[in-house]
Amino acid sequence: MNNPLYQKHIVSIADLSRSELELIVSTASKLKASPQVELLKNKVVASCFFEASTRTRLSFETAVQRLGGSVIGFDDGGNTSLGKKGETLADSVQVISSYSDAFFMRHPQEGAARLASEFSSVPVINGGDGSNQHPTQTLLDLFSIYETQGSLEGLKVAFVGDLKYGRTVHSLTQALSLFDCEFYFIAPPALAMPDYLIEELKEKQIRFSIHQSIETVVNELDVLYMTRVQRERFDETEYQHIKSSFVLNASMLGRVKSNLKVLHPLPRIDEIDSDVDETPYAYYFQQAQNGVYARQALLALVLTNQYGV
Ligand code: CP
Repeated sequence: MNNPLYQKHIVSIADLSRSELELIVSTASKLKASPQVELLKNKVVASCFFEASTRTRLSFETAVQRLGGSVIGFDDGGNTSLGKKGETLADSVQVISSYSDAFFMRHPQEGAARLASEFSSVPVINGGDGSNQHPTQTLLDLFSIYETQGSLEGLKVAFVGDLKYGRTVHSLTQALSLFDCEFYFIAPPALAMPDYLIEELKEKQIRFSIHQSIETVVNELDVLYMTRVQRERFDETEYQHIKSSFVLNASMLGRVKSNLKVLHPLPRIDEIDSDVDETPYAYYFQQAQNGVYARQALLALVLTNQYGV
């Protein structure tokens, strides 16, 4: 049987079908339970970061190495011929892809990964392009949701914080739309979900509602997905006024459902009080660790034809 993800570019979550997402999640579960130390033996993966990262880069590189592959690349695009000598992204991608079996990149510009996929001779995996998409974060989010809820189907999921610029929120709502989930959007008006995503949800007849505080909905939820409200987008008085509605602390979790999990793509700044860390609902550090298994699953499927199917 052929694997539908073999040699496929992973640029946007919208490029993946429901059955492909399910395949990645089940493969991540399999790899977490049974490590495969030789699956990527003799494979070289390029890790090209034109923008800062802690989790995405390190979990991706850990994933490659724990599957027996090797990594080339850079974590500072400013110190490359693109950054220092004016080489185009298209030329850089063409050359780097000729050295490697897959090309993983993060770039500050929306659309950079799509452009790279047009010039790469090997599969391109998007590790985040500007405020557009972060599909591998979504894969680890889906895996974490599946692991804690036992299903991706029919869940009540709230998104809190910067829903306008938050690429992880954009990708995850698109993915969970395929599983009949209901969404609650909680953000200051200046950071509301982009219109194009709201229109998409309406067209697909996905249930969603918009709220101004966490407390009004928290007791109904299965998943509370927190993101950072970016202080720099407000003047200080306005920020202090809105902040309390979008910061989670343990006292707000007194009457929640027992299966609730609080997720966050991290880094957190001050939107989740550290007293939440001690509750059974906190799952953001396990979620970050799941980045290794989700990225292993993707690499296994993109680079080998038989594994996982
Ligand atoms: N969640 C995430 O993308 O983290 P990094 O920016 O540290 O990679």
